[in-house]
Amino acid sequence: MRSSISLGLPFVASLVSSAWAATYALSDNHVGQDFLTSFTHEAIPDPTSGRVNYVDQATALSKNLTFTSADSLIMRADDTTVLTASGSGRDSVRIKSVKTYTTHVAVFDVRHMPQGLSTWPAAWETLEDGWPASGEVDILEGANDVTPNQSTLHTSPGCTMPDGRAQTGAVVTEDCGDSGGANLGCGVHAPTSNSFGPAFNQNGGGWYAMERTSTFIKVWFWARNDPSVPADVSSGAQSVNTDAWGTSTAFFPNTDCDIASKFGQNNIIINLTFCGAWAGATFAQAGGQGDCATYVNNNPSAFSEAFWDIAAVRVYT
Ligand SMILES: *[C@@H]1O[C@H](CO)[C@@H](O)[C@H](O)[C@H]1NC(C)=O
Ligand SMILES: *[C@@H]1O[C@H](CO)[C@@H](O)[C@H](O)[C@H]1NC(C)=O
Ligand SMILES: *[C@@H]1O[C@H](CO)[C@@H](O)[C@H](O)[C@H]1NC(C)=O
Repeated sequence: MRSSISLGLPFVASLVSSAWAATYALSDNHVGQDFLTSFTHEAIPDPTSGRVNYVDQATALSKNLTFTSADSLIMRADDTTVLTASGSGRDSVRIKSVKTYTTHVAVFDVRHMPQGLSTWPAAWETLEDGWPASGEVDILEGANDVTPNQSTLHTSPGCTMPDGRAQTGAVVTEDCGDSGGANLGCGVHAPTSNSFGPAFNQNGGGWYAMERTSTFIKVWFWARNDPSVPADVSSGAQSVNTDAWGTSTAFFPNTDCDIASKFGQNNIIINLTFCGAWAGATFAQAGGQGDCATYVNNNPSAFSEAFWDIAAVRVYT
């Protein structure tokens, strides 16, 4: 919950800005082995028709697709098996937080994200039941290593974003409620090339952070070597002050969207699929030859870099 701390000194004008500082306290510190109990592996059919086979936690651990150490969560796709066209898709992992959240800050400290042609990784929040009644915030998402690398909201109809927002990213689409039916949501491209895919990984990754209040949603990205990363983010501090984080990469205000009613309880989900609605549709454009699913079936070694290495997911309320 966004706390507005009154210092009780209304006559001291210079204290006014700090009097309304958006300070949040650490609520859930997901690091290493903790992910095995605070998240569940979802062995579900891919809702986006990807060439994927999501496995359960026991299978993921036994195949070493999921691996934890004291300071890391690795989640990867199978990169050794040639698949038959009639069988199931490539083994991969999708995890969902046990807890749900409303207003909060989530900081994703990511060292490596899945890369490779046909991959479609995402770190996002939604409530699967009744989707999209509880809204969806895609914090970090892209396909085929290339643009669009974007942060996107999806809601029920009747939520749009205005032009000219205070953000460093570039607007892709503005209808979050998707009255057109194409399910594009309202997206914003990160302006930096090291925010996604191979360039992100070569740079040691970085931090994505999302702040959700009852009146706006913001997403920030800082590359690993970005000197402007706030100390409370990079150190995994016990509390964070989002007012000191500077202009966000993406800013979704409530000007033409009742954020408070369009967003309810959301789980945190981290997934990796292949082809499907997005990566399949842009496979050829990204340099893929032939059919995306056939490529996934026949080229296991192409997935050696298709893994997440997550240092922490920290939730502040
Ligand atoms: C993966 O995440 C994205 C988030 O935007 C979602 O649209 C998609 O349905 C997810 N795919 C799967 C198969 O989990
Ligand atoms: C499992 O994966 C981790 C991380 O990549 C690696 O360090 C470890 O050696 C692997 N374990 C086995 C048994 O292959
Ligand atoms: C991310 O998007 C921006 C803006 O479209 C683009 O300049 C940048 O190259 C993209 N990065 C990647 C890795 O696709």
